[in-house]
Amino acid sequence: MRHLLSTGDLTRDEAVLILDTAAELAQVGDRSVKKLPTLRGRTVVNLFYEDSTRTRTSFELAAKRLSADVINFSAKGSSVSKGESLKDTALTLQAMGADGVVIRHSASGAAHRLANWVDGSVLNAGDGTHEHPTQALLDAFTMRSRLGRLEGLRVAVVGDILHSRVARSNVLLLTTLGAHVTLVAPPTLLPVSVHTWPCEVSYDLDTVLPKSDVVMMLRVQAERMRESFFPSAREYSRNYGLDGERLSHMPEDAIVMHPGPMVRGMEISAEVADSPRCTVTEQVANGVSLRMAVLYLLLGGS
Ligand code: CP
Repeated sequence: MRHLLSTGDLTRDEAVLILDTAAELAQVGDRSVKKLPTLRGRTVVNLFYEDSTRTRTSFELAAKRLSADVINFSAKGSSVSKGESLKDTALTLQAMGADGVVIRHSASGAAHRLANWVDGSVLNAGDGTHEHPTQALLDAFTMRSRLGRLEGLRVAVVGDILHSRVARSNVLLLTTLGAHVTLVAPPTLLPVSVHTWPCEVSYDLDTVLPKSDVVMMLRVQAERMRESFFPSAREYSRNYGLDGERLSHMPEDAIVMHPGPMVRGMEISAEVADSPRCTVTEQVANGVSLRMAVLYLLLGGS
């Protein structure tokens, strides 16, 4: 494996290897000196054309814990504002000796394009509405840690599927790992091609929740919307938001996940977000170990 562009490219064995490696590397986080020399002398570039809190900082921390040199490149404040293209920016960073490039971009397919231009490994940190593979991997890692298995797990992914790279990456990965996924959304927030995805689809959250071991709530991505997809925020929240009353209909050990950022009061109530059944901060912590594992497996060879 040279690049990580899509969870659809991963075999079951490759995905399990990433999760198992992350479990081993998580122990580094418990030490007083949280460092391994594995990537000493290697350079990782974080190339972020879109805003990020969790993904950018956890990739940076993961690379530093493996002793790599890290360059953080944000399009804001760079020569991108003077018209420099993605290709020229990437070649400039490669000329400085990048072994791995972590890219987030608003264009679906940007990570694939980049992989054709640079010699090093490309890690997709979110491309448009297409994929976010490390998010899906850290989500699977969190489910396995909390519930002890992935095989046969019933996972509901709820909300703005149409604009979600997290949903696509999770459907592809979780089905490879033997889980059953149901997407829940209003018809306007589902892609037209959803019938070709390896999952079920429902418009009714209340019938899906009692049959789910995991519910993954997604943010409505207003920044990607140029038209109205539902009558009002209040109506959306009433039909597709998760509050304490809805959560009470789930199995007792079911968990609530969210990739973040959350909009409290819209897709998730504050009561649920702060409940011990919500794994949102655990997902962030697991993201560091998971990204260490991916960097180690892609860049760790000689
Ligand atoms: N989940 C996620 O990708 O968060 P950021 O946009 O903050 O990186």
